[in-house]
Amino acid sequence: MKLYRKTKKVIIRPLELSDYEAWKSAQLAMMSPQNTWDLGTKDLTELTKTKYKKMLAGRAKFRKKDYFYDFGIFNLKRELVGTVSIMEVTRGISQTAYLGYRIFNNYWGRGYGKDAAKAMIDVGFKEIKLHRIEAGVEPHNKRSIRLAKSLGMRKEGLKKRALYLRGKWVDLLMFTLTTEDVGIKYNPKTPLLKPR
Ligand SMILES: CC(C)(COP(=O)(O)OP(=O)(O)OC[C@H]1O[C@@H](n2cnc3c(N)ncnc32)[C@H](O)[C@@H]1OP(=O)(O)O)[C@@H](O)C(=O)NCCC(=O)NCCS
Repeated sequence: MKLYRKTKKVIIRPLELSDYEAWKSAQLAMMSPQNTWDLGTKDLTELTKTKYKKMLAGRAKFRKKDYFYDFGIFNLKRELVGTVSIMEVTRGISQTAYLGYRIFNNYWGRGYGKDAAKAMIDVGFKEIKLHRIEAGVEPHNKRSIRLAKSLGMRKEGLKKRALYLRGKWVDLLMFTLTTEDVGIKYNPKTPLLKPR
């Protein structure tokens, strides 16, 4: 499985130990949260190499379990500019997962989000062998809605009280792509992947 893509603007791949300095610099360089959905930086006590190693180990375990694929997004200057993920993979008759994306706020509006998400969708379909990828976006998150639409994702409807965030249950607008939307044909001879 090739967990790597390079586009005109970004490289996406799992973070490695050698990315520690890039990861730490990125955390220190971002601004305070710019909107409700912007997480902002980590606390200084979270930026040690020990904690970083622990985070990488957790991510590797999730990948091995085929449950959660979390990638770093690097620009072509090798700066870490965000993260993009395929989350909560469900196998059997569903073969579905959620797409997550975050660009660090000091890099917004440069097309990194779109390039990285597009590349991750390609990884999701061609490497992780998903049939359906969904993105759940809060209805007021205009930037994220613009991004989902620009990826060609289909708006399927409002999922009521879908996530518990910031002390309440919030609705999500669901955006979707299936392999058929990107021209990948379903081969009935391919066995459906089982949970690992
Ligand atoms: C949503 C987010 C990932 C967008 O990343 P980004 O790198 O700024 O997005 P891009 O530069 O690739 O732009 C994507 C689209 O948004 C548009 N966009 C860029 N800046 C914008 C702005 N200030 N307001 C509205 N739309 C904007 C772009 O024009 C592009 O649309 P287009 O292809 O139709 O022209 C980023 O703002 C973010 O991380 N936000 C906080 C976390 C978050 O909301 N995650 C999603 C949770 S569902």
